[in-house]
Amino acid sequence: MYNETVIDHFNNPRNVGELNTTAKGEVSSPVCGDTTLIYLDVQDGVIKDIKFKTYGCAAAIASSSMLTTMAIGKTLAEAKAITNDDVVKSLGGLPEAKIHCSVLAADALRKAIENYEKEHPENA
Ligand code: FES
Repeated sequence: MYNETVIDHFNNPRNVGELNTTAKGEVSSPVCGDTTLIYLDVQDGVIKDIKFKTYGCAAAIASSSMLTTMAIGKTLAEAKAITNDDVVKSLGGLPEAKIHCSVLAADALRKAIENYEKEHPENA
C-alpha cells in the first residue's frame, strides 16, 4: 500500500518532538479526527528548527516527517508556499484514500507560521 519512502519516514520519522515556542500550529482532520502539531524555532525569518507530533495514521506521520525536512532552513515565505501536494510528491505518492492525511502537516505548518507572525508582526 505504501512506497519505501513513506515506510521509511513512518518507521524513522525525522524531527519528532516539541519545542518551547509560541510558534506552534495544531490541526485536526475533519475526516478522521487525527491531529498534528508543528513547533518552529524562527530566527531572522528563517526556520532554524522544527519538530512535530502526530497522533494519526502512518501516512500522516510520514507526511509530517517529510514536511519538516522540507521546511527546515527555509524562510517563512518559502515555508508557507509548501503545499500538501508538494509533500505527497516528495513522498513519491500516497494512496488516493490517504491524500487527506498529508493535509494535516501542511496546514499545521501554516498555522504555526501564522501564530509566529501574530507575535512578531515586524517579521511578517
Ligand atoms: S487516517 Fe487520519 S490522518 Fe490518516
